[in-house]
Amino acid sequence: TTRRPLIAGNWKMNLDHLQSIAFVQKLAWSLKDAKHDYQTVEAAIFPPFTDLRSVQTLLDADKLELELGAQDLSDNDSGAFTGDISGAFLAKLDVKYVIVGHSERRTIHHESDEIVASKVAAAHRNGLVPVICVGETADDLEKHGPSAVPVAQLKAALETVPADAEIVVAYEPVWAIGSGQAATPEQAEQVCAALRETLAEKLGADQASATRVLYGGSVKAANIATFMREPNVDGALVGGASLDTNEFASIVRYQN
Ligand code: G3H
Repeated sequence: TTRRPLIAGNWKMNLDHLQSIAFVQKLAWSLKDAKHDYQTVEAAIFPPFTDLRSVQTLLDADKLELELGAQDLSDNDSGAFTGDISGAFLAKLDVKYVIVGHSERRTIHHESDEIVASKVAAAHRNGLVPVICVGETADDLEKHGPSAVPVAQLKAALETVPADAEIVVAYEPVWAIGSGQAATPEQAEQVCAALRETLAEKLGADQASATRVLYGGSVKAANIATFMREPNVDGALVGGASLDTNEFASIVRYQN
């Protein structure tokens, strides 16, 4: 494949302000020391909203090639939405990516497929690349098999996506998130391949072959390479293991 792999670190609600600045400096230095080629493997971090500005300033000042992403956005661009953060605000902070439809948002904040689709549209409207998360629960897996729920979620999220808009898809089986129980590479490949077929149906073959489909769920330095060997897995969305600089740097450097 010609797709450029993406390793994305989703901090969730972890690393406070002081920790995050030290973390980014250490991570960037360790990747620099290792002479990491960001063109070969793209690396992105997703800090909490409150640290996007300071992390962006740091990346900019030191000309660091790490990309920046946000963990969520509002589906509105401005107005009376107390506590929400719009894609328009994120775009002004030079944020490139935004996670949409993470299972924690779908579950804890009751985000429906419709809301996810509307957030995808808000991301595109503001020049952000949505990282669209899909994935089945253990119960779904038992009832519907591996691909049905993630494919249905992706179809719904693509409702308003124009064929030429950039997206990233992340397959995250809910049972594998934070459980230490990652999917097998074969399981990940099977669903990622099904998701790519959905991309082809909805957006056309060219877009399907250009779009990165990531795997997420208990990815760590010790298992990343096994996922990256699969033809339809183009990277990882990493939670817990992205909170340790050495561990995350090793995941980014999975080829070495
Ligand atoms: O967004 C990241 C995922 O929820 C995976 O989390 O690596 O801690 O299992 P995890």
